[in-house]
Amino acid sequence: MAESRVVLITGASSGFGRETARILLGRGFKVYGTSRNPSAKPQEPDVGMIALDVDSDNSIQSGVKELLEETGRLDVLVNNAGYVLTGGAEETSIAEAKAQFETDFFGHVRMTKAVLPTMRKQGSGQIVNISSIAAILPVPFEGYYAAAKAALLAWSEALPHEVKSLGIKVSVVEPGFFKTNLGHTRKIAKYTIRDYDELRRRAIATLDDDFENGADPRLVGETVLRIIASKNPKHEYAVGRERRYKTLKHLMPQSIIENGVRRHWKLDR
Ligand SMILES: NC(=O)c1ccc[n+]([C@@H]2O[C@H](COP(=O)([O-])OP(=O)(O)OC[C@H]3O[C@@H](n4cnc5c(N)ncnc54)[C@H](OP(=O)(O)O)[C@@H]3O)[C@@H](O)[C@H]2O)c1
Repeated sequence: MAESRVVLITGASSGFGRETARILLGRGFKVYGTSRNPSAKPQEPDVGMIALDVDSDNSIQSGVKELLEETGRLDVLVNNAGYVLTGGAEETSIAEAKAQFETDFFGHVRMTKAVLPTMRKQGSGQIVNISSIAAILPVPFEGYYAAAKAALLAWSEALPHEVKSLGIKVSVVEPGFFKTNLGHTRKIAKYTIRDYDELRRRAIATLDDDFENGADPRLVGETVLRIIASKNPKHEYAVGRERRYKTLKHLMPQSIIENGVRRHWKLDR
């Protein structure tokens, strides 16, 4: 049977969102994407782009309304929009930390709350949240990002139990490092403390290398396709080279994991 489901992907102007849109279009889905400024970036042809800022209730209300007026339904929401904030735990201001949560946790929450009434009315729907392996493994000088993604992961584990009987499925994806724009658009905590300069410099240089040498974002798009094509999707999908550390974290002694983390982020030289 031909695919006719309507999919909305937040943050479809680049990276995972854009790749996912391209892959789903190729499979016949009706794909809509969001960007805060769709006209500023070249887009995948045939993706209906909607101006939407996940930090804003009003923007989400009008974006989702625009979509529903055109399609009359929404089958899949891919909650993907996000950015990375780097900075030490002590250096980062509460305002900067809250802004990270505003997008990478509450942005997903707001979007979900905006589409659930439609999915409940339909008696069907699917939500795929893009978290991160950072939710599971510590990333020094990126702690607020990891915390927002961990909050998203925990929330995404509670949600399916609330909506399953209403015909709505929820899955969460935990990507490792991928070569997207995320490293280029990362925000940096403004206030710095000299005692952290050397450690921060090394850890963030490693992070930038990890993004630069990251895997092909197409893998994440293919994972999203697998999730929404599956009759019985799993709850969690770790994807990318670093996915093995998720398993190892539970199998290895803590000291080995801690040493590995310090070595990777060059914290002991
Ligand atoms: N790349 C990785 O290694 C990696 C690993 C784990 C998890 N992730 C997660 O994957 C998701 C996608 O990231 P990416 O790697 O594809 O990065 P990307 O290439 O920088 O794309 C980020 C997307 O999010 C959108 N966005 C950012 N802030 C937004 C806001 N407030 N409202 C609406 N849209 C917003 C951007 O759109 P506009 O700027 O056009 O609005 C852009 O389309 C993020 O949640 C990220 O945390 C990435």
